Order: sequence, then structure tokens, then C-alpha cells
Amino acid sequence: MRIIKVKDYQELSLTAARLIASQVLLKENSVIGLATGSTPEGMYKELVKMYENNLVNFEGVISFNLDEYVGLEENHKESYSYYMKDRLFSHVNINEDNIHIPNGNSSDIEEECKNYEKLIEEHGGIDMQILGIGRNGHIGFNEPDVKFEAVTHVVELDEQTRKDNSRFFDSIDEVPTKAISMGIKRIMQSKKIILMAYGIEKANAIFGMINGKIDPKLPASVLQLHPDVTVILEEGSASKLEFKVLV
Ligand code: PGA
Repeated sequence: MRIIKVKDYQELSLTAARLIASQVLLKENSVIGLATGSTPEGMYKELVKMYENNLVNFEGVISFNLDEYVGLEENHKESYSYYMKDRLFSHVNINEDNIHIPNGNSSDIEEECKNYEKLIEEHGGIDMQILGIGRNGHIGFNEPDVKFEAVTHVVELDEQTRKDNSRFFDSIDEVPTKAISMGIKRIMQSKKIILMAYGIEKANAIFGMINGKIDPKLPASVLQLHPDVTVILEEGSASKLEFKVLV
């Protein structure tokens, strides 16, 4: 794992945005796995700025989002479909046909999961996957479990996750109980992975992800096995790690 420690949220956002921009510059039809949540919001803002300054071109980019709630209308302001349009897609020149987000309103959710998996496969897998991390160590909506769930699947959301995400809803009762999430195997098959973390409340999960044993009870720990992971940490989320200065 390559760890980049940055001083604040602005630098976190800019560093991640630059990594995406350079991926797209090197391969214009890159397949990018995208994440939602509060952590990547600044990264999307930076990407929009870069696009406006002709520093990145989304024309050929193919996107696959990590997850989506089950049962929220597509235009519900907390659906990830709405989030992506609002933060990125409606501001850049990505081709609508190249945008993929699991459909949490499908009448056949199991079939939706299978189709999503197949679509990613047909596009040759993910070149660069962006990840946040939950306080409980989840990646995507792969919650702590007794095993690593491999493929796109329906998830029963953890109470901790529902509590954490209730800040976006009027009350916890409105937070969906289920979601569709890309699985661990699919994430691990990405050629490159960028994980971003912000805030002291993520410090334990980050410590465990880097120093703990590989355990489905802390899903992000599986990333220790991936050959090309870049972790970008602002000081709070990195506060439990020791950094040695090499001279
Ligand atoms: P957050 O969520 O960015 O809103 O903290 C991260 C995650 O749950 O993956």
C-alpha cells in the first residue's frame, strides 16, 4: 500500500482528483469505479474545476458506481444516482450511456445484481476504483461479515452505517435498510484502487485496515492483498498511524 498523508480536506480532494485526471489522460476510455458519501464531494468539485479548465475530458470515460440504496426513488436527493448527477455528471461531458449505477428500484433486485456484474465484466473490469471507508471498515456497502462477499449483491445495512448516514436524512427511520453493493472480489479485481479517508472518526478503521489482520469483520483489511492501492489520509484519519521519517 502506498500511503499519502495530506494536511487537510482540500489537499485530500485535490490529490484524489489529480489521480483520476491522470488515469483518464493516460487512457481516455478508462473504466472508473466511483464512490459517494461526504468524503469524495471535494474531489468531485476539483474534477469539475479541472474539466472547466480543460485539464480533464470525460468524453470516453465509463463509470460504475459502487453502490446504491434499495427503495429510494432515482430522484430522491439522497439516492446515489441523484448525488452523482448533482456532484459530477451534470457538470462534465461524460456520455450518459457510459454511466452505470445499480438500480435500487428494480423489480428484480437479484437479477439487477447479476446484470451489473455482467456489465462490468463486459467492459473489461475497472481500471481505477475510488473508495471511501466506513467507521466500521466497510468499503462500498460491504459491511463487517463472517466472509468476504465476492460479487455485486444485496446488503442488509449495518446499524452503525444507518446511524452514520442518518445525518443526510430527516430521521434514521428514513434511511433505507438495504443497498446493492459491488462485492469484494470485484473491487479487488480493479487494476488500481484509491482509498480516501477524512476525520478522526475513521482513525480506528484506517489503523485496522493497515495494521490489523485480514478479516471480513473489517472489510477494508482485504486491501492489504491488492498490489496497487493508494491510500490518501488527512491528518485526523491518519492519527493512529506512526510515520517514520527516513533520512
Ligand atoms: P463518508 O462515507 O464519506 O460519508 O464518511 C464513507 C463510506 O461510508 O464509505
